[in-house]
Amino acid sequence: VTTDIQQLLLSRVHDIPDFPKPGVLFKDLNPLFADAAAFAAVLDHIASRWEGKVDMVGGIEARGFIVGTPLAQRMGVGFLPVRKAGKLPGETISQTYDLEYGTATVEVAKDACRGKRVLLVDDVLATGGTASATAQLLQRAGAEVAGLEFLLEVAFLQGRALLADHEISVVAQA
Ligand code: PRP
Repeated sequence: VTTDIQQLLLSRVHDIPDFPKPGVLFKDLNPLFADAAAFAAVLDHIASRWEGKVDMVGGIEARGFIVGTPLAQRMGVGFLPVRKAGKLPGETISQTYDLEYGTATVEVAKDACRGKRVLLVDDVLATGGTASATAQLLQRAGAEVAGLEFLLEVAFLQGRALLADHEISVVAQA
């Protein structure tokens, strides 16, 4: 069964073949972000699921910022930016993970989330590499990862397998 909110979200995803490289079907959520009413409905849906269960919302650069900041405001909690390497001032904690070619690093400010229940959000769950590295990062930073939420799960990539220790919700699957 596809719910109204799933239908709404899926109607605002643009599939772009061969981006950013040949063979990859890019899921572009900019049509959702451009539609104030649809985006608000999706954020309200997510907020109601986690209301009262988290102290902060963590968003993963860059598209996780688009989702995480308005969500945190709705829920009345602070926003925690999880950044790519080298962008944060002061003392940081980092976590490096493997990509298809090479590695990537995510970072968080050292004392920004210690002792907090953090909901980690991003636009898309694909291979799960980014999210699982970020979950490990937050735990090393002293946070409790209360859960993870994604607008869209690319199910065939089985990113959930890397996040088996966590509570995961997704608004829709592609
Ligand atoms: C995309 C997306 C997620 C990640 C998902 O970000 O926003 O963060 O990839 O992929 P994974 O599950 O295979 O790790 P991207 O690295 O393209 O960066 P951006 O948000 O800065 O565009």
